[in-house]
Amino acid sequence: MKLKIAVLPGDGIGPEIMEQGIAVMDAIASKFGHEFEYEQALCGAHAIDEVGDPFPEKTYDICRNADAVLFAAVGDTRFDNDPTAKVRPEQGLLAMRKKLGLYANIRPVQTFKCLLHKSPLRSELVDGADFVCIRELTGGMYFGEKYQDNDKAYDTNYYTRPEIERILKVGFEYARKRHHHLTVVDKANVLASSRLWRQIAQEMEPSYPDVSVDYMYVDNAAMRMITEPTFFDVMITENTFGDILTDEGSCISGSMGLLPSASTGESTPVFEPVHGSWPQAKGQNKANPLAQILSVAMLLEHFNLVDEGELVRKAVDASLDACVRTPEIQVEGGAHYGTREVGMWIVDYIKKS
Ligand code: IPM
Ligand code: MN
Repeated sequence: MKLKIAVLPGDGIGPEIMEQGIAVMDAIASKFGHEFEYEQALCGAHAIDEVGDPFPEKTYDICRNADAVLFAAVGDTRFDNDPTAKVRPEQGLLAMRKKLGLYANIRPVQTFKCLLHKSPLRSELVDGADFVCIRELTGGMYFGEKYQDNDKAYDTNYYTRPEIERILKVGFEYARKRHHHLTVVDKANVLASSRLWRQIAQEMEPSYPDVSVDYMYVDNAAMRMITEPTFFDVMITENTFGDILTDEGSCISGSMGLLPSASTGESTPVFEPVHGSWPQAKGQNKANPLAQILSVAMLLEHFNLVDEGELVRKAVDASLDACVRTPEIQVEGGAHYGTREVGMWIVDYIKKS
């Protein structure tokens, strides 16, 4: 297969983990006879520095004309500590999502047997946890009307029926491909927008008789995720709730550096780690490349390259089992490996399989 990939390494540890993601893509390409063509583009803080725009028009063009976008991370402490900054790296990410119409954000929460002890939760609670959070990504408070002056400010949690229907459809269909259990997360006891979500989900239920649906308030869901994470199969929610819950979900597995995501919608799909740009670790060769590498697996699977995706996942599992791990998940008293070394080990594994 021939694929054109827009590569957006972004800021902080982004370029280092991206290098490993691309190395894995190349290994897969030569093993299976595919042709992956890459085009790099600016996004985030370094795009602001170079051209004054966190998501330049040229980057948009490159993304729009690609088959997929492989994204790493954006963000820089310079902006975090300056609430008055008018242009921020994160706006680049939001602009990309909005302009590409990426309304469905798929964030799997998966545990790895050999890392259960690294979870902040007791092993017996997380053992077997394996669910997918589907986050609506182009609506709600992130994009609703905003206002701010010195005395008052507001954000609007605005959703329309078509926006809700299309994302719920993704949820129902995802549940069908998994264990037929969909949890709709909202705050329908308080919020009008949530009540519309719940109403529409109930209207859609009869069209999916094979999917069992439950409704859960977001506060309760946050609790359930850490008291009984194995309860969930597919969870679906609006933008802001999904942002918060997926950070909670991402630490269940023992390291934020392990979880990938896919964002799909109207235009080119984007594959990216759930974690951020960790500017403090930039250039130190210690960031975990696995979330980026697993994002590559999701990219491959998106194009029905099932064996290819499976081999990447197998290689990742093998690296963990062989204790070829970055510092945050290293075996106590054992050695740790750098970003590059973990990536090289995985590439090697793929070559030899
Ligand atoms: C995420 C991030 C972004 C979000 C930020 C960087 C704007 O936290 O992808 O979850 O809030 O969506
Ligand atoms: Mn987030």
